[in-house]
Amino acid sequence: MSGWLSGDVALITGGASGIGAAVAERFVAEDAAVVIFDRDASRLDLVRGKSADPDRVHTVTGDVRSSADLHRAVTETVDRFGRLDILVANAGVWDYQRQLTRLSAGELDAAFDEIFAINVKGYLLAAEAAWRELVKAHGCIVMTLSNASFYVNGGGPLYTASKHACLGLMRELAYELAPKVRVNGVACGAMRTDLRGPEALALADRSLAASFDRRPADAPAPPIPLHSASVEPADLTGPYVLLAARAQSSTITGQAIQADGGIGVRGFTSGAGGDQL
Ligand SMILES: NC(=O)c1ccc[n+]([C@@H]2O[C@H](COP(=O)([O-])OP(=O)(O)OC[C@H]3O[C@@H](n4cnc5c(N)ncnc54)[C@H](O)[C@@H]3O)[C@@H](O)[C@H]2O)c1
Repeated sequence: MSGWLSGDVALITGGASGIGAAVAERFVAEDAAVVIFDRDASRLDLVRGKSADPDRVHTVTGDVRSSADLHRAVTETVDRFGRLDILVANAGVWDYQRQLTRLSAGELDAAFDEIFAINVKGYLLAAEAAWRELVKAHGCIVMTLSNASFYVNGGGPLYTASKHACLGLMRELAYELAPKVRVNGVACGAMRTDLRGPEALALADRSLAASFDRRPADAPAPPIPLHSASVEPADLTGPYVLLAARAQSSTITGQAIQADGGIGVRGFTSGAGGDQL
């Protein structure tokens, strides 16, 4: 498919890397203009520089925990491209599956605040900054959710709770912004990205991609019906296009497409997670 987003304008948080950057590239290929928002200014420049059409890519540096930064991004979007049709709420961090029993009380306290501020409040603040323009455009929000929005052990308690919270947020906003704005999510499974951890756990410099690279070639395939661990962000952009495209999904709101290789149909693969305790 191509041209499904012709004339549309999208704002993508966390658009300088991983699935956010892949969605930006795909949206440009579908004839949209995109504004990519991220706290990493140099990577924003790289993504814009590599774009098939840099004139249709605008960058804004900021932090999703800052309402002022997100309002500035919406203002710049409208100044540059005249409208805002699609918000992709996406910037996030992982907890590297740090289980409750491996967190001190102090770590838990600080990491909760950091992870929820980015993963949950960041989505809500972005929606607040964008909804007025989205109502004008009869547009939509697409949230990056996760297998951890539905299942355990895709993170520790902090990440899993944050992604379950995003599922609830998606559903609540689908109700509150209907009928003018559709709100849906793509629940991504594991993919090879530079996903980082929280500063509060000294995991800000750790990259998920490095864990992928460390997997021995003869390691057993992960228990996922459709695929191995080698999924790239570009493999997951189709559901974002589908949900963002008015003509393709005008009757869909409050839904998550689970793009996780079929975790939900695999059955039990392991028992208790705490047998070592
Ligand atoms: N990688 C996976 O396996 C996986 C699986 C399911 C869901 N997800 C979700 O995908 C989303 C994107 O992550 P990714 O895997 O592409 O990782 P990534 O690190 O490659 O991309 C995330 C981007 O968000 C930015 N960001 C982080 N905190 C920010 C902040 N406070 N303000 C502004 N920008 C910030 C980062 O700079 C980075 O560019 C996250 O919500 C993550 O939870 C990832």
